[in-house]
Amino acid sequence: MRIVVLVSGTGSNLQAVLDAAADGSLPVTIAAVGADRPGTGGVERAAAAGIETFVVDLKQYADRGEWNRDLARAVAAHEPAYVVSSGFMRIVDQHFLDAFPDRYLNTHPALLPSFPGAHGVRDALAYGVKVTGCTVMIADAGVDTGPILAQAAVPVLPEDTEETLHERIKVEERRLLIETLAGLAASSAQGGPS
Ligand code: GAR
Repeated sequence: MRIVVLVSGTGSNLQAVLDAAADGSLPVTIAAVGADRPGTGGVERAAAAGIETFVVDLKQYADRGEWNRDLARAVAAHEPAYVVSSGFMRIVDQHFLDAFPDRYLNTHPALLPSFPGAHGVRDALAYGVKVTGCTVMIADAGVDTGPILAQAAVPVLPEDTEETLHERIKVEERRLLIETLAGLAASSAQGGPS
């Protein structure tokens, strides 16, 4: 099963997918890794693993619709069965979603529908919840909305900072993303979407 992974940041979750694909425990081919800006750790990790990379730099576009169209074109060129937003901190438009219907996965470091947005960990900590976690879903045009595929809970410890809590959430998030991709790969091998 071919996937394209989109990143905006350090790409530590991407690294877990790269490792699982490389050691054969996850039967996917990472066709390419793309980013919305130059110089991301995620693209560096992909290049180090010998994976093709591309950047569709939002800052170079006056028109966001045009950026969405070019991003969709860059992704589609790699013919992925699924596109994975792994810390890709941009909302895509309906044109992009229509290019990959029900094939755009997202992960989020909170138990949606609680604490959507760019600061899911900080917001959960500020609210004072005792349990948070992570979510893998099919993305739609909203901010961290769309059908939920999997979730895992992570307890909040009294001494937690945003950083320590996010790190523990990411451990679960990586496991959940890899498990979800493995399930989708198994179903595509049995004649499901490929
Ligand atoms: C992940 O925790 C991901 O869920 C989050 O960014 C982090 C990326 O980490 N995404 C969002 O908050 C989307 N709303 P990474 O770059 O180390 O993989």
